[in-house]
Amino acid sequence: MSTLFRRYWVLFLFPILVAGISIDGIQKWVIQYGSDIPKVWTDEAIKDWELPNFNPEFSAKPVSAAFYYNLPERVIYKTYTVYHPDHEPEGYWDWLHSIDAEIELDESKLLTEEDFVKAGELLFDYPIDSLGAIISKENVRDVGFYEYSEMPLSKDGIMPFARWIVTGKGKVYLGNLSCGMCHTKVMPDGSLLKGAQGSFPGDKAFAYGLQKAPENDVKAVSGFLFSSPWAEGDPHGELLSKKKQDILDAYAAVPTGAFGRQGTSILFPPQIPDLIGVKDRKYLDHGGLGQHRNIEDLMRYIAMNQSLDFLNMYGSFNPLGLNDEVINSGKPIMFPGTYDRHSDKQLYALAKYVYSIKAPENPNKPSQLTEKGKVIFAEQGCVTCHTPPYYTNNKLTPADGFEIPEEHYDKYDIFDISVGTDPGYTTKTRRGTGYYKVPSLRGLWYRGPFFHDASLAKLEDVLDPKRLESEYVPTAFIGAGIKNRAVSGHEFGLELDPEDKKALIAFLKTL
Ligand code: HEC
Ligand code: HEC
Repeated sequence: MSTLFRRYWVLFLFPILVAGISIDGIQKWVIQYGSDIPKVWTDEAIKDWELPNFNPEFSAKPVSAAFYYNLPERVIYKTYTVYHPDHEPEGYWDWLHSIDAEIELDESKLLTEEDFVKAGELLFDYPIDSLGAIISKENVRDVGFYEYSEMPLSKDGIMPFARWIVTGKGKVYLGNLSCGMCHTKVMPDGSLLKGAQGSFPGDKAFAYGLQKAPENDVKAVSGFLFSSPWAEGDPHGELLSKKKQDILDAYAAVPTGAFGRQGTSILFPPQIPDLIGVKDRKYLDHGGLGQHRNIEDLMRYIAMNQSLDFLNMYGSFNPLGLNDEVINSGKPIMFPGTYDRHSDKQLYALAKYVYSIKAPENPNKPSQLTEKGKVIFAEQGCVTCHTPPYYTNNKLTPADGFEIPEEHYDKYDIFDISVGTDPGYTTKTRRGTGYYKVPSLRGLWYRGPFFHDASLAKLEDVLDPKRLESEYVPTAFIGAGIKNRAVSGHEFGLELDPEDKKALIAFLKTL
């Protein structure tokens, strides 16, 4: 028997091989793509996914898994184009009011990776709010709104940052807060680049609507969005003690390309990051608040940032004035974006889509000049932090004044040098961690304004030593009521001669 086996063992292997292949084949049929989607919100996973607050006593404590999964899953209705009033096709408004609701996404039909990516793109443009979180129905039908906010339009006079949602005959809502609202750029030719640093003038648009609101409402909403009373000097408390017009001015001062979303600030507004290439980044947000170790982390980030962070407890502080008991009582909390949630499958589709977005072809090709710039980039030590191929070393740098707790060195990727930029965002907001991550320099050619607070419009400004002087007038975000101020820190490459700067910038634009 044993000699027989030794001689003919290959024959014995054959049926096993066949069986192996067919089991794999059967698995592909029976177990659909995406059937092993991770559960995003478990108490264990959510506990230490985010970095602690710069003041760890006030680190965010998110809602429980029980609360989260008790929220109803989001129904994805068909949505419709919003036009500038001068470009709306005749009869469009009446037609919108005459049609019935249609459900656009049937999750049970998602079978392949391609299906998921396609559904993800649909979800990217799906507005999760119909209560008018940032802009209202009245706003988008008012020509003055477009003029005040300098709203860019895409081809054919389309307002690309919001959609009409029809949930039943005559029930037409203005949908806010799709990913595309903030993460879509209108290119110079009127085409749209999804995932790029967006060009929705969000804070100006919001300020327009707030003009008609009573002072107390303006203060209440600004409180939900930005209050972080434990921050040294309580800058948001100070802002809220001012007059309504001063608060509106602070909104209007935030330039396109930045947005004071919840948990951040209009005083220290975060630049909207380019999502193209996000798969290769280890931390999410300018302060690196969310760890990004795998697709689950991105799904968590998306779930949390669709307003669920309004329900976080920060010590005994909650932005909506709720307490633990109310939040975990299981009763719905009717606040934009917190009354329903994406299913895990929808989150997976969204994350897959975000990972799949590719940059457009770069028109800036390598040349003698860019080759010279590449050498300068290395010589100036830019590569230490902006390391190829991602042009980031994916590390966190401490902001001025932040003392790194000892235990962080084992837990996080830290490069222990402060680049000395303004510490406001990361030491005075709810999302502040005390760090700024090293951003990727990929796609600089279609990006801007630059730095975490969008102070500088152009790469030329980043390399301009005059920006360190207090008389400097920042070329993008300045701040309400401020005429001039220094844009400090990141003093790299400032002393290069004009020819070398030109070469360096030419190189940066090829990335
Ligand atoms: C109202 C505007 C707005 C909406 C809506 C929005 N984002 Fe963002 N997003 C921002 C801003 C601003 C930041 C930067 C936040 C910070 O650094 O504090 C950001 C950061 C991110 C990041 C982190 C990227 C990085 O490199 O740090 C990801 C990922 C992201 N958004 C994905 C999404 C997705 C997906 C959606 C839709 C589900 C979405 N965003 C909806 C404004 C928005
Ligand atoms: C010590 C690490 C370090 C070095 C060296 C360094 N950078 Fe940076 N760079 C950073 C950090 C951190 C930021 C984010 C700062 C902020 O926004 O507050 C940044 C931001 C930038 C930005 C703005 C990106 C954006 O999205 O807004 C550009 C452009 C840039 N660096 C180019 C360079 C060039 C060119 C060099 C070399 C001359 C260089 N950097 C050297 C760490 C570094």
